[in-house]
This record gives sequence, structure tokens and C-alpha cells, in this order.
Amino acid sequence: MKILLIGSGGREHALAWKLAKNPENRIVSAPGSPALAALGETRPVQADDLEALKALAAEIRPDLVLIGPELPLVLGLADILRAEGFPVFGPSKSAARIEGSKVFAKDFMIRHNLPTASYAVFYDVEEAQDFLRHSSFPVVLKADGLAAGKGVVICGKLSAALNALSSLASTGAGKSVIIESFLTGEEISFFGITDGKTILPLPSAQDHKAVYDDDRGPNTGGMGAYAPAPMMTPALRDHVMRDIMIPAVNGLAVEGSPFCGLLYAGLMVSLSGAKLLEFNARFGDPETQALMPLIESDLAEILMAAATGDLAGRTIRISPGTAACVVFSAEGYPGPYRRGDPITGLDAANARPDTVVFEAGVGRSPESLPVTNGGRVLGVTATGRNLKEALSKAYLACGDISFKGSHYRRDIGAKAYRLNLMCDDDG
Ligand code: AMP
Ligand code: GLY
Repeated sequence: MKILLIGSGGREHALAWKLAKNPENRIVSAPGSPALAALGETRPVQADDLEALKALAAEIRPDLVLIGPELPLVLGLADILRAEGFPVFGPSKSAARIEGSKVFAKDFMIRHNLPTASYAVFYDVEEAQDFLRHSSFPVVLKADGLAAGKGVVICGKLSAALNALSSLASTGAGKSVIIESFLTGEEISFFGITDGKTILPLPSAQDHKAVYDDDRGPNTGGMGAYAPAPMMTPALRDHVMRDIMIPAVNGLAVEGSPFCGLLYAGLMVSLSGAKLLEFNARFGDPETQALMPLIESDLAEILMAAATGDLAGRTIRISPGTAACVVFSAEGYPGPYRRGDPITGLDAANARPDTVVFEAGVGRSPESLPVTNGGRVLGVTATGRNLKEALSKAYLACGDISFKGSHYRRDIGAKAYRLNLMCDDDG
């Protein structure tokens, strides 16, 4: 199958790595990365350049288009390519509002009775200030539009909330602001591949958003993940499918925006059940890096079935093991960070058993040597019979890799131990 893969990050490297396991697949990535070039062909077309991507698709005539990041989905790339007759794995512009507009998403959750935190939407800063003055804390402030992970602020007291409100209101994404009650529990990422009717759930994953150990420091795009999440018991999974995923997919279809692609429910799980923090309209990053090594089925076949409305009756084979991904970030991330520092040890890490390094922000020097080229630089991923084994393999490989100012969390997966939820830990 000829697959046009849109994107360039660690998530796309993991998707392409899995797709390339079938030697019959040919992968063309746009814009791609050096790691993606090693798995196929890359074309220097940016993921948000819709006209150029349309022209690229017309030229290469892919059998399937797989859209990685949210921005092209929210801009409507899937609609444009579908209108040209290409099967696309990724929702329409209208369905991608579930991620692109938090106001749309929250109102949708209420319309369809999906469990989520109570909230109010404000279009006027003074009204929002007044509401905050009468709120109990903590509260969560969310800008409406895509904000590259910077649109959510948790505020412990009024002064912080008022400051956060004025900085959100000053961004393009913050023309309207949601003020939401604060939820406690464990965060879980729940992924379903769907054709708009049938949903194939994938193993649940747990991301680690804060930059430092023990969830300290500012939030990032994600500093590590493991899958499956031991918290996701069969009963909880049934609850999430019955009360969140199925009504969400049906609700989007009923509203005239059928969702074809990967529906990602960001959940807060507590003793009272699962509540939605957000929906995303695409694979998670770095959760995908932990998920791909666990999928045994032919991924291209399943994505094609989803893209062509043919998922009914299909299953997906998942390995019984666990995978863990530890993300290396560049000095300064998630603030301004360094680029261009030489990276050593990638070959040694990749040579270890059951281990693969997914490159997110890795460029090449003029001598073709790997150098840092992004805030999240790479994700060291390993599989094992259980979480303990996967983590120990991943951390051993982390020891091989170095670059100036490198940082990675030492406690990926530690929470699962602390919570004593390791059901399968025989090690
Ligand atoms: P979101 O983009 O809505 O998922 O928010 C980003 C992060 O903010 C989430 O991954 C949570 O860690 C946190 N967050 C969002 N909403 C809430 C909430 N209502 N209560 C507690 N934490 C939240
Ligand atoms: N890992 C969080 C995200 O992909 O949004």
C-alpha cells in the first residue's frame, strides 16, 4: 500500500515504523524527518500547507492518507483530500472541532450526556473576572482554540486565575475562555480507531505531562508514556466505551460530523468513574510511541478499513506485553530551547533487544550526524513482559544516549507502582 503520512514528529516516526514492518507498504512522509526518510521517502511540504499537500497527493496518488498532527485536521486537510477521492484516516474539519474548539467539545459533552467537569464559557473578560471572584479554588482555565499545549492553566487562587485570564485573553486561542472545576484522579489516554460507526479500542496509555519528576514543573507535550495502563480494568474499559466513546462517535454522526480516524479521550479516572478532560482528534504523542510496538495486526489494513467505512467485524491483535517510552527533551524545553547539539549513542540504544528510539526533534549535521532539532528530541521505547521489564530496558538504553543539556524524567511509570496497581508484575 502506498501511504502518504502527514507530519514529522515522534508519533509519525512510530506510526511509520509500524507500517514499515509490512514490506509491501511504501511510505511517503510530508514534511517528514531524517528518521522518516530512512523508512521511505520524504517531501518537503509543511503539514499545514493544504494546497501543496493536495498537489502532492495528486502527484503520488496514495492508496491511503494518514494525518498525524491536529493542525491540518482542524484546517480541513481530510476534507480536501477526500474530495479528491483519496481514502483518508483522519476526521473532517467539522469533526475535528472536538479538539480544535474546547467550547464546541464541552458543549458537545453536555449535549450527549458525557461525564465531564462542570464549566462555564465566557466571551467577556469582566464577566469571567466576576465569576472567578465568586469561585472556590482550584479552578481550571482553558482557551477555546488550539494553543500548542499552553491553553490550559490550573489556578490555585484568585490572583493566579486573574493573571491567567488576562494572558489567555490576549492570545488568539483565548477569544473565549472556559472556567472549569478541578478534577482529581489519574489521567489516562483512551484511543479508539473508528470509521464513524464502529470503534476498535486500543490499549490505554498513561502520559507524563509535567517536565520534571513527581509531576513538577510546567506542562509539556508529554515526557513519557507506557501502555497498557494497569488502571484500565476490563470494567473501566466497558464503562468508557459505553458511556463515553460510543455516545461520542454516535453523537458526532447524528450531528452530521461523522468522525473517521483516531478519537482520543483524555480521561481523569477516580473512584467515581472516568470523566472527560478533553477529546483529541488524532493519535497522542508520546502515547503512540508506546502503543505501536504492542500492535500485532497489520496497521495499514486497519487504518484503511477505518478510512473506507469498513471496520465492522474487525479485531485488532495486541501483544500481551507492556511498552514504555521515555522522552528526552532539549535544555530549556518547554521554554525556548537549544538546537544543533550533537547526539551520541542512538545506534547503541537501537541495538538493544526490544528497544527502538523514535526521533521527534532530531536533525542531521552537514556531516549527516544526528543533532538536536526540537524541544522534545526523541523517545526511547522498549517492550517487556510487564511494565517493570519494559522500563528497565528503556532506561538502560537511555544511558547510551547523550547530548548537551539533555533531560529526561527518571520516574516514568513510577506512579503505577506507587498506586500498587501492577496486576501483572511477576518480576
Ligand atoms: P486538556 O488540554 O484539556 O487535556 O488539559 C491539559 C491538562 O490540564 C490535562 O492533561 C490535565 O492534566 C489538566 N487538566 C485539564 N482539565 C482539568 C480539570 N478539569 N481538572 C484537573 N486537571 C485538568
Ligand atoms: N500526549 C498528549 C497529546 O498527545 O495531546
